[in-house]
This record gives sequence, C-alpha cells and structure tokens, in this order.
Amino acid sequence: MNIGIIVHSRTGNTLSVAKRIKESLEQKGHSVDLKRVTAINEEPAPNETVLLKDNPEISNYDAVIFGAPVHAFSLSQVMSAYLKQIPSLENKRVNCFVTQKFPFSFLGGNHSVNQMKKICVEKKAEFGNTGIVNWSNKKREELIKNVVESCGEV
Ligand SMILES: Cc1cc2nc3c(=O)[nH]c(=O)nc-3n(C[C@H](O)[C@H](O)[C@H](O)COP(=O)(O)O)c2cc1C
Repeated sequence: MNIGIIVHSRTGNTLSVAKRIKESLEQKGHSVDLKRVTAINEEPAPNETVLLKDNPEISNYDAVIFGAPVHAFSLSQVMSAYLKQIPSLENKRVNCFVTQKFPFSFLGGNHSVNQMKKICVEKKAEFGNTGIVNWSNKKREELIKNVVESCGEV
C-alpha cells in the first residue's frame, strides 16, 4: 500500500512518533512517505489565519496518517488549517494521532483527535483509528507503542 504520514510538529515529539510508525509500516512491506506541514506563522494568535508554507499533496496515497500536537487544549491551528483545505479524502483510509505534554488525554488530547476526526469524516475519509501520546505520562513508551500499532492498521 502507498501510505502518507503527514505531521505538524514544532518541537519534534510528533515527528518522532511518526518516524516509528513509518518504520513499522515499512517492515510490513508498505511504501511510506513522511511529510511535514509547516506555516509561515507557526505561532498564530487565536483566530489568526494560518498561512501554510509546506502543504503536502496526498492525492496519490491509499491511506493517510495525520499527526499533530495539542496546542491550548485543542488541535494545533496549523494542522487544523491544513486538514480544512484538503479537497477530499474520499476512498482513503485515514488514521490520526496527537501528542500532548499533559499526562491525561482529557486535558486536550481527546478533544484534538475528535477535531481531526470531524474534519476527515466531513471530507469523506474511511476513518479508522486514533491515538494519543501523553508525553509526560510515566507510561509514555507504552503509549507510543499503542499508537504505532493502532495508527499502523491500514
Ligand atoms: C503553544 C503551545 C500550546 C500547548 N498547549 C498544550 C495543551 O493544551 N495541552 C498539552 O497537553 N500540551 C500542550 N502543549 C505541549 C505540546 O502539545 C507537546 O509538547 C507536544 O508533544 C509537542 O509536539 P511537537 O514536539 O511535535 O510540536 C503546548 C505546546 C505549545 C507550544
């Protein structure tokens, strides 16, 4: 399968999880691209328009995995803007994950993956699994392994 992993990552946590998902999928024989979403204004004020700089094209992938950090108890504005401008996710399997600093998912993680899911379903994705890595949780490594497994189901 031809798979795209598309991440927004400011400080590298989300990117590091994405690299592990990529390795795992490649071991299963898939062809995987890992691409980053970036913005000209990486720190937009609330309600400021995000100006995307790196805006990866996904039309050639059979399945897409989106990853992003939680910012202010919500999905990062850069990933939100990126997802919203995708024309369609029809006929694509989509999994999503977020990383967040706080140890518990009710402090923004759950809300953020739900935001991602809502946009992807509106774009007609065949929506699959979600995952959350709570970076300051003592069981972080276990959480990463869970996300590698769940988001690696394509
Ligand atoms: C502007 C900003 C806001 C953040 N808000 C939250 C938050 O509400 N909840 C949380 O758990 N972590 C929050 N964090 C921490 C990041 O979600 C966390 O460090 C994440 O793993 C960073 O991913 P990255 O390294 O891929 O950018 C925030 C970080 C930044 C820079």
